[in-house]
Amino acid sequence: MNRKNILAPSILAADFKTLGHEVDTVTKAGAEYLHIDVMDGVFVPSISFGMPVISSIRPETDCVFDVHLMIVEPEKYIREFAGCGADSITVHAESARHLQRIVHDIKEMGLRVGVALNPATPLCALDYVLPYLDMVLIMTVNPGYGGQAYIPEMTGKIRSLRRKALELGLDLDIEVDGGINEHTLEEVLEAGANVCVAGSAVFGGNRAENVQKMLKVMSRYTAYEAD
Ligand code: DX5
Ligand code: ZN
Repeated sequence: MNRKNILAPSILAADFKTLGHEVDTVTKAGAEYLHIDVMDGVFVPSISFGMPVISSIRPETDCVFDVHLMIVEPEKYIREFAGCGADSITVHAESARHLQRIVHDIKEMGLRVGVALNPATPLCALDYVLPYLDMVLIMTVNPGYGGQAYIPEMTGKIRSLRRKALELGLDLDIEVDGGINEHTLEEVLEAGANVCVAGSAVFGGNRAENVQKMLKVMSRYTAYEAD
């Protein structure tokens, strides 16, 4: 498999009154994923948006819709998110009551599947499901808001997970989310992340320039691959 470094702009930080245009700008500038943060006000303190917004931007682009569910009882909604255009669904280990089952169900729908870990959740929460996953999302801030600062202790967590994936021979994407910008990008890439979410660093100022700058940094790092 050819593992790649991928930039995933988080539309949470976009200007919603021109969302279609925002999507168009960042994808044309070279972003391959769109990171879509769904918050329910229960699992995390804030509420963002849901299915109607995802359905309305789906015709705008054929880039990968990377849906990050920060909600309780995610099993109730995965079919609907698949129906409105998700290509990849990530659920939190802390909110999925039967993690192995939901991972299996998302895969059965023909989607890519990820599991997210909050900063305080240890990597061992992934034991027994890791071989089934396409991606692990290491939260590098506590989920709930954009614009927070990167938690430096997460670098070691990324490194340990990459080491573990390589030892097990797994083709695993490691996504990082929260406080990723031009300065923290190199640190997470070097530690072994290959899918980088960026909200405020992309949707503040000149979007296309921000994307291009970040892609340039990413192109200097070769993504880790299992033998
Ligand atoms: C945080 C969300 C993030 C957020 C990242 O709970 O999961 O995806 O949009 O925003 P920045 O890049 O601004 O930290
Ligand atoms: Zn996110």
